[in-house]
Amino acid sequence: MKTRLSVNVNKIALIRNARGSNYPDLVKICKDIESYGSEGITVHPRPDERHITYADIPLLKKITKTEFNIEGNPRPKKFMDMVLKNMPHQCTLVPDSADAITSDSGWNTIKHESFLKETISELQSNGIRVSIFCDPEAKFIEGAKKVGADRIEFYTGPYALSYNKNRAIAIKPYADAAIIANKLDIGINAGHDLNLHNLRYFQENIPNLLEVSIGHALVVDSLYYGMQNTVQMYLHCLTNNN
Ligand code: PXP
Repeated sequence: MKTRLSVNVNKIALIRNARGSNYPDLVKICKDIESYGSEGITVHPRPDERHITYADIPLLKKITKTEFNIEGNPRPKKFMDMVLKNMPHQCTLVPDSADAITSDSGWNTIKHESFLKETISELQSNGIRVSIFCDPEAKFIEGAKKVGADRIEFYTGPYALSYNKNRAIAIKPYADAAIIANKLDIGINAGHDLNLHNLRYFQENIPNLLEVSIGHALVVDSLYYGMQNTVQMYLHCLTNNN
């Protein structure tokens, strides 16, 4: 099973925004990242637009030749309007608060059942595949199926945190949850704090992992190895496993 690499370019936008000009040019970098082999571009516009801005979205949608994935919280409505206007291949719904530094937990798919159902159906009726950010817990995965999500994206922050202490323990909840997701026939994506050390083991142990979206570590690695080498090193972690 091939796992696609989608590069999250938020941190590149953050560098650009630091000086208020168009340098580095995000459109050019995204084209280059795809030419180095990335199989997707992910953006996560936050309400304060500190990295990706709403104005970036149509420009990136226009040039992305692989898969365009927009992540974010569907509240406020501004986010949904932007997604429906730009028609990404995939929209990943994330329950992050407006002031969150980064996403730090998945949906409670039981508590938010009716909201998610409505939101997902609106996106799907417009031809957009929907993935929802999810902790590796059976009840939330079953809930994700119930609300009609096409995929879940495992929040892998806790996996990355405990990987160095004991990787077998770190992977266990995800491997168990993946069995449930596969049985329910819901697709599996994953993201957050994946890096060159922990990615291969994750991919090897999660059957039918369809896609990973990786930003922070990949951009940091590119400072050392260059973007072209870095993208290829991440692709290598996803090759010839299973
Ligand atoms: N998935 C989601 C939902 C995220 O919010 C982020 C961070 O923006 C990522 C994946 C990528 O995480 P990282 O930047 O740690 O690779």
